[in-house]
Formats: sequence, structure tokens, C-alpha cells
Amino acid sequence: MTQSTTNTPSFPPPQDEGSVTISYKGTTATLPVLSGTNGSSVIDIRNLQKDMGLFTFDPGLGTTASCESKITFIDGDKGVLLYRGYPITQLAEQSTFPEVAYLLLYGNLPTRHEYNEFVTRLEEKSLLHEQIRNFFNGFRRDAHPMAILCGTVAGLSGFYPEGTDTSNETSRDISAIHLIAKLPTLAAWAYKYSRGEPFVYPRADYSYSENFLNMLFARPDTPYKINPIYSRALDRILILHADHEQNASTSTVRLTGSTGAHPFACIAAGIASLWGPAHGGANEAVLKMLHSIGRKENIPDFIAKVKDKNSDVRLMGFGHRVYKNFDPRAKIMKKTCDEVLQELGIENDPLLELAVELEKYALEDEYFVQRKLYPNVDFYSGIIFKAMGIPESMFTALFAVARTVGWVSQWKEAFNDPLRRIYRPRQLYTGPEERDLKSSKQW
Ligand code: CMC
Repeated sequence: MTQSTTNTPSFPPPQDEGSVTISYKGTTATLPVLSGTNGSSVIDIRNLQKDMGLFTFDPGLGTTASCESKITFIDGDKGVLLYRGYPITQLAEQSTFPEVAYLLLYGNLPTRHEYNEFVTRLEEKSLLHEQIRNFFNGFRRDAHPMAILCGTVAGLSGFYPEGTDTSNETSRDISAIHLIAKLPTLAAWAYKYSRGEPFVYPRADYSYSENFLNMLFARPDTPYKINPIYSRALDRILILHADHEQNASTSTVRLTGSTGAHPFACIAAGIASLWGPAHGGANEAVLKMLHSIGRKENIPDFIAKVKDKNSDVRLMGFGHRVYKNFDPRAKIMKKTCDEVLQELGIENDPLLELAVELEKYALEDEYFVQRKLYPNVDFYSGIIFKAMGIPESMFTALFAVARTVGWVSQWKEAFNDPLRRIYRPRQLYTGPEERDLKSSKQW
């Protein structure tokens, strides 16, 4: 049975809210202002070049709405995050990752029947084609799991032809399911490969998170006993990371998708973008930072380096382009962290104590207060992963597993956008003007 998106709820188009008029060198243009359901209104600048011969300049696209979307809403000043209208705190407390995946993909929470059918589809597609095992042998054993994921996910484009026709909604949906289902298997196998241990296959009797933990930790000689606290914590972490509107990796996926590229190649591009330490690589970088600080006594020196404009040291796990308040995900992450450490009987984890102290120190420091820099989702996630026995190199891969849901949901949404066109930003050129060539042949 193939899920269609015909039951996706419909909403009114953007509302006309008036206009702004701008004048430049004797030319005037009237630009419409549009409002959505929530959030800032936007100035529609599409005719600016035609009417005035001007482009807009917005490095990092910090004030540009690059598309219309109905999936995720963030109010950065209030610290609000909604998936399809539902607050992240409610979803993290009450929902499951597959349910959230369904919600993000199709717009509504599933009925019981839809949920069971969706979970079965994911289970069926979680197995990899046996030849994909061969991909891994091409990598060094110490290859970063994100390198393996970039390569193997792009390589999937040569398999599963039933999802290749991007002009067909059913085909797009099949690819989306393949990707959500297969990412945990690929990520777990990347880890197994690094350890030289046999790959563990997905099992239909395990939930999505249980399966992932089992594929990471089970061995032929030692079956893995699922700890419900861990699988629940992982499920919650996956929910928290599932989508975050037009962040760098999602924009990469949308941009790549706008060319009509193969869906698996689009997700490989998203994985590459996520890998950077300013984005998904931050969870791994937080742990590295805590190790390098070492002791509470070293915090003031470290913070002094962070504040020094001549150093490129940043407080990893702090700050966000959109949140100018607490990242609501960070609060849930801290709570989950406490639960996991309690389960492990770790009353005083030195790394957690250091993180708590560092957070407190930064939140009271004028530099961070002035710039509205608060802990983000990555500040505590690494400590939880570490406590669960997940190695640091796998942290960003786990983020990729979760964010695949957001990527495919946003990638699919773009196909139904009547304004869909290839992404092609412009530039403010500051290089040389045209000049005549005098090449080495004329010496
Ligand atoms: N440590 C020290 N200073 C910072 C930090 C930080 N973590 N983040 C921002 N600043 C300063 C920055 O130097 C600038 O100062 P000034 O105005 O004096 O030049 C000011 O705050 C504004 O920063 P920005 O670089 O314009 O902010 P941005 O929106 O371009 O960057 C960010 C956002 C997330 C890349 C940045 O805050 C950062 O590098 N944080 C650390 C990495 C991190 O934790 N990333 C995970 C983000 S959440 C998960 C995800 O998106 O994947």
C-alpha cells in the first residue's frame, strides 16, 4: 500500500498585507507585503529586478524567506518550535519518532491504522540491498561515519529504481520511505565497519529506535538487551532533531532538489552540509570542547579565548541564527540527559558537571547576554549519547538519521509548490572588470 499525500491539510494562501514603496534614482517600485499563519511578514521582491534593475544583498540569507512552507515554525525570540502546529515539548513527551515522521511527511497525525501501515512500510524498507555491503569495503576503517553516509546514501541512487521518477508523487513517496527506513541501517553499519564487527540486520519486532540501538551494539557473541530508558531517550532525541525549517542542510536539500536531482543524491548533499561544526557537527565538537577544557577551573580562561576577537574559538553548543532565547530543544535535552544518567546510576558525571558549570558561566557573562547566545540542541545531546555508549564520531550521524525525515518532507513539499523553480541566487560582484588577456604564450 502506498501512502499518498492527498489527505494533506490545505491552508489559505499568503495574505496580502499592503505594500512597501522604495525609490532609487528616480525610479519607484511598490512591493507587496505578504503574511503567513505565524511569524514575520515578508516583502515580495520578485519584481524588483524587473522594475528597478536591483537585486537584494543578504549574505548568509539571514533575512530572506527562500520558500513558502507549511511544515515547521520557529519563533526565535520566544523559543517556540512547532511541527505542523504541534509544540515540540508535547511531541517529545507524548509522541514517537515514527508518528512524528508521519506528521512531518503528510501534515496530520496518523490514525492507528495509518500508523501501523507506516511502521510496516518502514520495517520492510529498512533492509539494504546485499550489494550495498560492498560499498563499505572501499572505506578505510577509520573513515568518519559522515563520510561513509555521504558516499553510501548517494550510492543508493543506483538501486531502487521505483523511487527515481521525481515527477511522480507516488515515486517521491517511495524514495522518502526508503531513506527514512535505511538511514539507521547505514549509520549503524558505518559504526560496525569502524569496529571491524559484523553488520547487524534490522528486525521487524523492534521499534525504530530499538532497532537502531540493536544494530549499533548487538554482536553475534553478545545479544544486546534493549534498555527502555535508552530507546525512549533516543526516540526523543530523534524527535527533537527531525526538522528545523530552512536550516543550512535543509536548504541544501531543497536547492539540490530544485534541479530535479535524484532524491538520494539530494539527501547525500544534505548530509554533507550537516557535517560542518557550525551545524550538525556541533554535537561532536561540544564533547571535544569539554575534553579540552578538562576542569571547571579552566572555564574562565576558555571563555576569555571565546571572547577574544583574534581567536576563532567558539563556545560550541551555544548560539543560533534564529533562537535569540533558549532553544526549546536544549531544555528537553537537559531533562533527558538527567534521566539517562540517573538510569546509569551516575550521580556526578564530571562531563555533565563541567557542561552545567560552563552553561551557567556563559549565561551570566555580558558577552553572551548582549548577543543573546543561549545553549542550543547540541549542548547536551553529546553527553547523553556518550552515556549510552555511542562514540563521539557517531553523534552527527545520529542527527542525520533524524533530520532525514525533515529533509524528505521539505524536499517533497517543494514539488507541490506552484512557485517551484531552480534555486539560482545572484551576487554582488566585486572582482576585476573586463580586461584583455595577455597569456604566457605572448611572453
Ligand atoms: N561562541 C562565541 N561567540 C558566538 C557564538 C558562539 N557559539 N555564536 C555567535 N557568537 C557571536 C559572534 O561572534 C557574533 O559576535 P559579534 O557580533 O561581536 O561579531 C555574534 O555572536 C553573532 O553571531 P553570528 O556568527 O552572526 O551568528 P550566526 O547566526 O551567523 O551563527 C551559529 C549561528 C549557530 C553558527 C553560531 O552561533 C555558532 O557558531 N555556534 C556554535 C556552533 C553550534 O553550536 N552550532 C549548532 C547550531 S544548532 C544545531 C544546528 O543548527 O545544527
